[in-house]
Amino acid sequence: MIIIIKFCFFAMAILCVAPANAQTQGVVFGYGGKNGPNRWGHLNPHYTKCSVGKLQSPIDIQRRQTFYNRSLESLHRDYHTTNATLVNHVCNVAMFFGEGAGDVVIDNKNYSLMQMHWHTPSEHHLHGVQYAAELHMVHQAKDGSYAVVASLFKIGSEEPFLSQMKDKLVKLKEERRKGNQTAQVEVGKIDTRHIERKTRKYFRYVGSLTTPPCSENVSWTILGKVRSMSKEQVELLRSPLDTSYKNNSRPCQPLNGRRVEMFHELATEKQETSSKKKKPN
Ligand SMILES: *[C@@H]1O[C@H](CO)[C@@H](O)[C@H](O)[C@H]1NC(C)=O
Ligand SMILES: *[C@@H]1O[C@H](CO)[C@@H](O)[C@H](O)[C@H]1NC(C)=O
Ligand SMILES: *[C@@H]1O[C@H](CO)[C@@H](O)[C@H](O)[C@H]1NC(C)=O
Ligand SMILES: *[C@@H]1O[C@H](CO)[C@@H](O)[C@H](O)[C@H]1NC(C)=O
Ligand SMILES: *[C@@H]1O[C@H](CO)[C@@H](O)[C@H](O)[C@H]1NC(C)=O
Ligand SMILES: *[C@@H]1O[C@H](CO)[C@@H](O)[C@H](O)[C@H]1NC(C)=O
Ligand SMILES: [Zn+2]
Repeated sequence: MIIIIKFCFFAMAILCVAPANAQTQGVVFGYGGKNGPNRWGHLNPHYTKCSVGKLQSPIDIQRRQTFYNRSLESLHRDYHTTNATLVNHVCNVAMFFGEGAGDVVIDNKNYSLMQMHWHTPSEHHLHGVQYAAELHMVHQAKDGSYAVVASLFKIGSEEPFLSQMKDKLVKLKEERRKGNQTAQVEVGKIDTRHIERKTRKYFRYVGSLTTPPCSENVSWTILGKVRSMSKEQVELLRSPLDTSYKNNSRPCQPLNGRRVEMFHELATEKQETSSKKKKPN
């Protein structure tokens, strides 16, 4: 138990998504039992949003709550080659990027890519379905607000980016076996353009961080195309984590009247074509 408490201290010192915060250091959160998601709001005064917040994540994206929004634009991502470090972040496996990894522009606001990490199984559900894994690419604007771009994965063919990272993931796992729960592996320069997939469809809503302190006003973009990774890759992502963090997805939270907006390139084209036809000539 002492070991577990120690590395959870470390987890909190670097937090899963948010930057270190002196007031919350040393508070253990987990995915089951006394420190499970239902208890997060009571673990620390700074975590109350986890229980009283009305704009929490993840959610189940259901058809009847999803609205096509013709004002939404295709996702503008501009990632650059940058130094990266693969990290055993205790509650997940993450990749931290050096400065200048690029940015995503949402509603004319520029958010810089900071890190990405994986959850198994997926946190967001799509039309009632929970998938095998979910990738969160975490971006932050100058004013501190977050935008997360999420991809869902089902079990299938290998995911090319993770295939490239295989040796490094194995190294994290070996470090863990040797007793190092917070190992880091330098990845060197990685071409983030490989993970910047063109997307024809996405869902957008306002939610929260899915780990304490569950801060709200996070702009979420969930890509509509479910991608694949192999079963071995899911296991590899789990392998450096302690048993209680291998399943690291927070249950779905109530929508509380929020709207989920949808962008769909094909629908946009269709509308444009039909409106052109309608124009008198
Ligand atoms: C549609 O998307 C635009 C651009 O993001 C946004 O400003 C607007 O509020 C959305 N419309 C509705 C009805 O939410
Ligand atoms: C990238 O990392 C390597 C090794 O850690 C370091 O020598 C190099 O200066 C870094 N480059 C940049 C642009 O940060
Ligand atoms: C976003 O910010 C980065 C870094 O500050 C800058 O290089 C980039 O041009 C900006 N992009 C937009 C669309 O404003
Ligand atoms: C764990 O790994 C990190 C980075 O790889 C290193 O800085 C640290 O000293 C290691 N800790 C132990 C106990 O081996
Ligand atoms: C919420 O996010 C929007 C967009 O990033 C920002 O303009 C606004 O100031 C934020 N509101 C709060 C209360 O942080
Ligand atoms: C994770 O969840 C799956 C499916 O609910 C379950 O079969 C498995 O035992 C869980 N693993 C751990 C380590 O809790
Ligand atoms: Zn996450």
